[in-house]
Amino acid sequence: MSCVIVVGSQWGDEGKGKVVDLLTQQADVVVRFQGGNNAGHTLVVNGNQFILHLIPSGILHPGKRCLIGNGVVVDLEVLHKEVIGLRERGLTLGPENLAISGKAHLILPYHKHLDAVRESAKGSGSIGTTGRGIGPCYEDKVARVGIRVSDILDEQVFSDKVRENLKEKNFLFEHYLKVATLDPQEICKSFLPLADFIRPYVADVSLLIDEAIKNKKRILFEGAQGTHLDIDHGTYPYVTSSNPVAGSACAGAGLGPNKIKAVVGIVKAYTTRVGGGPFPTELSDETGLFLREKGGEYGATTGRPRRCGWLDAVVLRDSARLNGLSHLAITKLDVLSGIKTLRICTAYSYEGQTLQTLPASLKAVEGCRPIYEDLPGWSQDLKGIRKRQDLPLEARNYLKRMEELMQVPIGIISLGPDREETITENNPFN
Ligand code: GDP
Ligand code: IMO
Ligand code: MG
Repeated sequence: MSCVIVVGSQWGDEGKGKVVDLLTQQADVVVRFQGGNNAGHTLVVNGNQFILHLIPSGILHPGKRCLIGNGVVVDLEVLHKEVIGLRERGLTLGPENLAISGKAHLILPYHKHLDAVRESAKGSGSIGTTGRGIGPCYEDKVARVGIRVSDILDEQVFSDKVRENLKEKNFLFEHYLKVATLDPQEICKSFLPLADFIRPYVADVSLLIDEAIKNKKRILFEGAQGTHLDIDHGTYPYVTSSNPVAGSACAGAGLGPNKIKAVVGIVKAYTTRVGGGPFPTELSDETGLFLREKGGEYGATTGRPRRCGWLDAVVLRDSARLNGLSHLAITKLDVLSGIKTLRICTAYSYEGQTLQTLPASLKAVEGCRPIYEDLPGWSQDLKGIRKRQDLPLEARNYLKRMEELMQVPIGIISLGPDREETITENNPFN
């Protein structure tokens, strides 16, 4: 039983890519199980940066198998570009180290069109999606009209489904949204050639995982987005359209929960969010700007500036429970150097009450005011430190407080974007 799930504990961009790349050293297989190319996972090795959107973050390691599970929504044009781009950078990439489930749903041009048009129609109330067609693609999946990877392998099946789906979508575009319609033939013309590209990669991912488990291989499941962007548990409706929580790894890859050994929650040492929605500890002052600039908090997918704020232990405690976290990986602790006093939100005040968890109602979350506890900061640069005991006392106290508030032990501390800039104390595979 050597399956480890890695999830984001906040609103995404916690540094999942870096930690998955690091843990791949101990793994044999790395699996994406939800989301799509709304994800942007950054890996830095010896100063070279790679941003992955669909391919699992284990791909830089030769000899490891990367799998895209049934729960992922796939834009084949993006996947094709990603494969070509990585090959151009010298990576070996082919069916021997990458496979995709035939059950994964395809993002098609009408999904992106719908995503964009709906967002602009919402104006200032928009979700701030990544515009990648994620929501509309998952909608079609649930409505049982989605088109899957296996469908594109048969020209007739794919063309018929595109034509059928566009009848309804074009009616919506023309008569309700009053925007341009799409031509099914154009879509087939641009997508059908991609069938030859994807064909050799299509596999039964669930069977591959089962085989790997039987052969005592170590499997890493790479979550995308973050717990509070979860369609069920996040700050609805300001969420994504999949389940980034750990429980969805099983459904999104095709294995049973009894195979899971550990769940690692990635926690950025402060909080960020990109797009709309409530963010109780958001800072719209100099400290917020400091975090954005020093932390390089600009979206890896859309380039949008990320909103920044103090660490929120309410968000994190909810994440510990919702994911069953067994380990924490703290990232970007180095970014906090130079802040005189650090604040951690330990509870919310809402209409005279003290709340220990995020309420379900959006209106209530929007009305929550953070209750802070202050901790002294440190000024030393943390880069180059490789042991927890070598960190400044204040940094150690900050970490200890995180462990206390979340009731989960820290296994990994990241002090810079590079794979090497890390303290590993407790390996989740052991
Ligand atoms: P992901 O979506 O969770 O994989 O995270 P992103 O890649 O979108 O955003 C995380 C950003 O922080 C990337 O630019 C990483 O290179 C960077 N990063 C990761 N860990 C650290 C760290 O410990 N310190 C610093 N300074 N940067 C980090
Ligand atoms: P990674 O995996 C941060 C956000 C969008 C928007 C909301 C819905 O890199 O952490 P969508 O396009 O999914 O319908 O947008 O979710 N969002 C992310 N924010 N990191 C991500 O991925 C995100 N993926 C989606 O900004 O608020
Ligand atoms: Mg990201």
